[in-house]
Amino acid sequence: MEMEAQGQRYRHKRVVLVPCPFQGHITPMLQLGTILYSKGFSITVIHTHFNSPNTSTHPEFKFHSIPDGLSHDDILSGNAVAIITLLNFNCRATFHECLVQMMKQHHPRDEIVCVIYDEFMYFSEAAANRLKLQSIILRTSSATTQISREVLLKLIKEGYTPLRDPRLQDPVSGLYPLRFKDLPIAKSGMSENYLRLITDTHNVRKSSAVIWNTMNCIEQSSLAQVQQECQVPIFPIGPLHKFAPSSSSSLLKEDTSCISWLNNQAPNSVIYISLGSIASMDKKELEEMAWGLVNSKQPFLWVIRPGSTTNAPQGIELLPEGIKEAVGKNGCIVKWAPQKEVLAHVAVGGFWSHCGWNSTLESIGEGVPMICRPNFGDQTVNASAAMNFKEGLQNRAYNL
Ligand code: UDX
Repeated sequence: MEMEAQGQRYRHKRVVLVPCPFQGHITPMLQLGTILYSKGFSITVIHTHFNSPNTSTHPEFKFHSIPDGLSHDDILSGNAVAIITLLNFNCRATFHECLVQMMKQHHPRDEIVCVIYDEFMYFSEAAANRLKLQSIILRTSSATTQISREVLLKLIKEGYTPLRDPRLQDPVSGLYPLRFKDLPIAKSGMSENYLRLITDTHNVRKSSAVIWNTMNCIEQSSLAQVQQECQVPIFPIGPLHKFAPSSSSSLLKEDTSCISWLNNQAPNSVIYISLGSIASMDKKELEEMAWGLVNSKQPFLWVIRPGSTTNAPQGIELLPEGIKEAVGKNGCIVKWAPQKEVLAHVAVGGFWSHCGWNSTLESIGEGVPMICRPNFGDQTVNASAAMNFKEGLQNRAYNL
C-alpha cells in the first residue's frame, strides 16, 4: 500500500489512451496502459459511451466517457465499419473538448505528454495536433494485414472485384501463401466506408510513432516492409498480453466454471472453440459444428457468445435436442470464457479459432495448435499468415 501511495506521489506524466470500442481493440489498449503505468506514467482512458470498458478492473486508471452520437439503430446494426466511420465524425469535437478540460484542470506536474489512439480512432490525432500534444498510433492487427489492405486497395483501383474474381484461389504475388480469397474484406462487404477507413487508417498524419501489437520473430519481413514505407518509427512490442499482468478487460462476464470443468479433463485432450467477439454464424453452421464436435468424441469447451448466431439471442437455443444431450456428455458450453486462462490450461490441446489477432497471439503464446476458421477482415489474413509463423516459432525467438 505504502509503495503504491509512493508510486502515485511520484507519477507525473500522463498518457491519454483512446481505444476503439470493440473487444479485440479495447484489450490490447488497456494492456498497453498497464505496461505504461508500470513504467511510472499516469493513465487516462477516453472512451465512447458505446461499449465502455469496465472501469472497476483498472482502478489505477482514470476514465472519461465522451458522447459518441450513436443511435440505438447504429448499434443494433452491428456494422462495425459504419460505427467506426460515425465515431470518427461524431467524436472529434467532444474528444477535443475533453482534452481541453483535462489540460485546464491538470496539476502542473500531471501534464499530458502523449495521446495514444487506436488506428481506427484517428479523429484523436486532429485534436491532439490542434492542442500541440504528441500522438502515437496503436495498431492492434498484424503487420501482414496492413500490407494486404494496401494490396487490396491497389487491386480495387485496377478493377479487381472481390469474391467474384476468377483468381480467388491463386496466391497474391509477394504475399505467399495469401490467396486472393484471403484479402481482408469487411463483414459488411466492400463499402465505400470500408475503403475510406482502411485508407485513413494507413495514414499516420502527424503522429510521431506507431506501436504495434506484434513481434519481429513472426512478422519480420512484413514489419521490415511497413517500416520502409512508414515515415515514423514503428515499435513492434507485442505480444502485449504477455507483458501486462492479467486483469480482465472483457465486456462480457467471463464464466469461470469452465476452468473447474477443464480441471477434470486429461492433459492435451480438449479442443477449445471460440469465434471471438464479432464473428457470427448461421443455424446450419452451428449444427454442423456441434455434430463435428460430438462425433469427434474429443472433450470440447465451446464458447457460444450471445448474438453470435443469426436470429437467435443466445445461440445455444438453436442446437437441436438430440445434439444438446450429446454435447452435455462430452462438452462444456459457455457464453464467454476466460480465454487466456483456458489456453494456458494443461487440458487444452487445440484451438478452433476465428483467427482474430489477439486470439492468434494468445494461442501462439501458449503453443496451442490452431484449427483456423476465419470469417472476415484481418482474420483471413491471419489464418493464411499463420503458416509462415511456424519458422519463427520453431526458432523460439521468443520463449513465452
Ligand atoms: C476482431 C479482429 O478479427 C481482430 O483481428 C482485431 O485485431 C480486433 O477485432 P475479435 O473477434 O475481437 O477481433 O477477436 P480477437 O482479436 O481474437 O479478440 C478477442 C478477445 O476476446 C481475445 O483477447 C480473447 O482472449 C477474448 N475472449 C474471446 C475472451 O476473453 N473470452 C472468450 O470467450 C472469447
